[in-house]
Amino acid sequence: MVKKKACIFISGTGSNLKNLINKSRDYTFPISVNLVVSNNLKAYGLKYAKKNSIPILLINPMNKLSENLILNELKNRKIHLICLAGYMKIISTRFLNQFGKKIINIHPSLLPKFKGLDTFQKVLKNKEVATGCTVHYVNKKLDSGKIISQKKFFINKSDDENSIKRKTQKLEYKSFPEAIIKIYRNY
Ligand code: GRF
Repeated sequence: MVKKKACIFISGTGSNLKNLINKSRDYTFPISVNLVVSNNLKAYGLKYAKKNSIPILLINPMNKLSENLILNELKNRKIHLICLAGYMKIISTRFLNQFGKKIINIHPSLLPKFKGLDTFQKVLKNKEVATGCTVHYVNKKLDSGKIISQKKFFINKSDDENSIKRKTQKLEYKSFPEAIIKIYRNY
């Protein structure tokens, strides 16, 4: 099968990046990871990119030229899909329009609940009985694009922010690859 080329955007730990790189080794997984973009030189996740000889593009989102630089790289490398995996910057409308292909994001809540930051705190404060993760298309509004997949679990009385984070991330490692498979199923 001919894999579609993907670029992963990160800002930090990169455990989803690591997971997607591992999944992409599978012959039947629809994407290869051909570029990693980070706005943070110290993002731990960059070490997975380096270890796997995946090109890295470091950017400064405050610099207007960065956007053009990324768009050029994406075009030159024929990138078909962008996966935001813990990327802490907003994607501009101009970027969305210029890229013109699919951009997806993983968010650690059952959207539309708890958009934005501090998700696990909000989940606890709101006394939710269940939570989970969502993979969705990126549009102009934060964490609001069409949902591709969601996974949920029930919260125990003993759960705290750390355990909820751990359980959510465990689901993310299933949900992100499944969403990508779903996107390319009918391609
Ligand atoms: C994930 O929990 C994701 O839902 C959120 O940021 C976190 C990134 O974690 N958007 P990692 O960098 O992939 O470990």
